[in-house]
Parts: sequence; structure tokens; C-alpha cells
Amino acid sequence: MAKGRLTLVSLGPGGLEHLTPAARSALATAEVVIGYGVYLDLIASLLRPEQRLLPRPLGTEVQRSREALLLAAEGHAVALISSGDIGMYAMAGPLFEQLDALGWSPAEAPEISVVPGVSAVQAAAARLGAPIAHDFCCISLSDRLTSWELIARRVEAAAAADFVVAFYNPRSVERHWQLGRARDLLLVHRSPETPDAVVRAVTRPDEHITLTTLAALDVSKVDMFSLVLVGNSQTRRSDRWLLTPRGYRVAPDAESGSQAHATVGELRSKPQ
Ligand SMILES: C[S@@+](CC[C@H](N)C(=O)[O-])C[C@H]1O[C@@H](n2cnc3c(N)ncnc32)[C@H](O)[C@@H]1O
Repeated sequence: MAKGRLTLVSLGPGGLEHLTPAARSALATAEVVIGYGVYLDLIASLLRPEQRLLPRPLGTEVQRSREALLLAAEGHAVALISSGDIGMYAMAGPLFEQLDALGWSPAEAPEISVVPGVSAVQAAAARLGAPIAHDFCCISLSDRLTSWELIARRVEAAAAADFVVAFYNPRSVERHWQLGRARDLLLVHRSPETPDAVVRAVTRPDEHITLTTLAALDVSKVDMFSLVLVGNSQTRRSDRWLLTPRGYRVAPDAESGSQAHATVGELRSKPQ
């Protein structure tokens, strides 16, 4: 039997304009597409009737991984999908854990490849200008698989080290207190005026962005479709933009003026 292949496909934050050509091609050549039903709906317009679709509910990540691996091992071309980047808080984790647990030899295992994508933090940052132009970190506030003690330690460390922080999985109906605690931990090291953004459903039709400050962050308005971005001590807001300066010196007027009028040829011949 021909060896099957499994492609882990990142769908990006939602809007299909952010789906990479590599992801499109992986979807187009799959016989079987497996993933959370909502994400299959998102890419429905790109799929063909003869492709086999396997929508699976939330909370079945382990079974889904195993199913995808077994189908590929049987010889099928399988695409396993996740939103954003599949390697960030998504299906690549459980998939490779399952692969490890199966202990297949290289001859038994299907070919596996991972297609990267635009993560929610990148899409949110793009909407805001340059909030992650300097060191930043992502922290998931979901304590479903990670203890709150460990999450709190990471938030404290990020706060003390002055990282810009992107909070994934910030709040859900059951997990309603974690974001408030995380904000309080950040406030130990950071000014109440630190610029913050709640970016909901970025690139989707119901996208909504709220610019606020750490102290004024209204936790009750945040849900699981949101990403919360908190600036560092240098982050500043200008109109609808957030900027975390990296330290570039602004060129004096005369010099920037002459560069603005230079021809491409002149710029190429000048040392930068
Ligand atoms: C299970 S994680 C998946 C992350 C995804 N793999 C990524 O790279 O963006 C789900 C969390 O990602 C964030 N998220 C995913 N898509 C988003 C979007 N379009 N807008 C805002 N946040 C999003 C939210 O914090 C959500 O609770």
C-alpha cells in the first residue's frame, strides 16, 4: 500500500485572505480533512464535494490526533486543521504527543509535515501597528491542562522582565477569574496607565478592538474569542495605534528629507 501523508495545516486567524498559499495547496490535495467543525465551516468554500470531511467537537484533540495518524498510516492523504498557527496552543501538540506514544518505526509512520500560519497574536498586532516590535511573550490563561500556580509564575516573570504580554484563552464562562488575577500580577510591576488592547475575532466579520489601559481593562467584556495584549513599560498609544519602541533613533529632518527624495539607484549606492 502507498504510504499515506499527514499535513498539519494552519488556517490563520479567520479571514481567508490570511490563509497562506502553502495551506491552500495542502487543503486542495487532501483526501480527508479533519478538524473542529467550526474551522471546517470556515474553509468550506475551498473544499471539494469529493473530499471527506471529518468534523469533530471541542475537547476531542487526543482522539482527533490518533484518528488523523491512523488514517494517514492506512495510506490516505490527510489534512489536520487548526486556527491561527497549528503549533501555537493547537493540534500540533497533541498530534506529536500521540505519535510519540504510538512509537512507530519510520517505516510504519506516515509522512508528516506542518504548514505554518498567521497566529492570532500576529494578526492582532498588525491591527494595532507595532505593539510587539520588541520582546514579547504569549501566555495562555487556560488552566485546563496547566496549573494556575505555573501560569501565575509565568505572568509574574513576564511582568518583572518587562515583556509585552499576549494573553491567549483569556476568559470563558467557566474560567472567569484568571484574567483579573493576571492583570493584578502585572500591576505589581507595571503602571496602571500601561496601554492594553482587547482584540476580538480579528480578521473575522465580527472583529472588534478595544483600546484601554491595564487598570481600566474591563475583564467582564473579554471572552474566548479574544486576545488581550498588554504593553510593556515603554509601550505608548497614539490615536488607534500602539507602539513599543525598540530604540531606533528618529532621523534628523534634513537627512530623512534627502532620503525621501532619493532615487532607488541613489539609495542602492549609499551605505545604509
Ligand atoms: C486554542 S487557542 C488557538 C490559538 C491559535 N492556534 C493561534 O495561533 O492563534 C484559542 C485562543 O486563541 C485566540 N484567538 C484565536 N483566533 C483568534 C481571533 N481570530 N481573534 C482573537 N483571538 C483569537 C483566543 O485567545 C482564543 O481563546
